[in-house]
Amino acid sequence: MSLDHKTQMVLYRLMSRGVIKRVSGPIKYGKESLVIHGYATDDSELAIKIHTSSVFGDDKKKGYMVGDRRFRHAGRRINLKTTLVWAEREYRNLRRLEKYGVRAPKPLGYEANVVVMTFIGENGVPAQRLISVEKADFGQLSKQAQELISKHVLDARLVHGDLSPYNMLFWEDKLFVIDLSQAVPIDHPKAGFLLRRDLTNLKNFFTSRKVNGEDYDVLLHHLSSELTGGDGQ
Ligand SMILES: Nc1ncnc2c1ncn2[C@@H]1O[C@H](COP(=O)(O)OP(=O)(O)OP(=O)(O)O)[C@@H](O)[C@H]1O
Ligand SMILES: [Mg+2]
Repeated sequence: MSLDHKTQMVLYRLMSRGVIKRVSGPIKYGKESLVIHGYATDDSELAIKIHTSSVFGDDKKKGYMVGDRRFRHAGRRINLKTTLVWAEREYRNLRRLEKYGVRAPKPLGYEANVVVMTFIGENGVPAQRLISVEKADFGQLSKQAQELISKHVLDARLVHGDLSPYNMLFWEDKLFVIDLSQAVPIDHPKAGFLLRRDLTNLKNFFTSRKVNGEDYDVLLHHLSSELTGGDGQ
């Protein structure tokens, strides 16, 4: 695992602040992040998410930004700035979920483009993502997912915005949402669009697991009426 100098300095600062005691190894290289495993000073396990376009010593990831229209005017400097915004937003959104008791990793700190949170899993092995769960009562899981989303929207007043069976972890019979950097408040102009997309993703997943998906239409109708951003329908 070779991190660039800047990221190493950020991890070092988190260590000197006592948020991280020790970094162990990578959990997952994603498109827009690198998640690594580590330990807190009380020896509990940590997930350390590095928002990136620059984690890899040599701009390997820049390619992803280059084909993306949204970043067509962005130079490297702006890409780096964007990662700071994502990290801060993810931290704040996780704080909000924690405050309202929505099941998700607990945020423990952030610094620059890095967010530190509790690790869902054990001994360095992350919990399964919902997409890879094979044996389970999917009807019950679907109910659980609906309760989770209801609390997310009605209590924490956030729309996840990237919800799918890839961004939910299944651990000790419970579902957790992860990947909160793009979540928006329910009065955001795109909240309605995002909520519909989130619920459609879950409906499609559970339907493919032979669960009746109509509940998701009812839920969408119910939750949409709570949105205040104007494009709820
Ligand atoms: N708190 C956590 N505990 C355990 N594993 C985690 C945690 N957070 C993230 N992971 C693991 O890292 C992966 C990527 O995390 P996340 O979805 O937040 O980042 P991402 O940038 O969206 O990555 P991807 O491009 O893979 O979606 C997750 O699918 C999960 O396997
Ligand atoms: Mg993800």
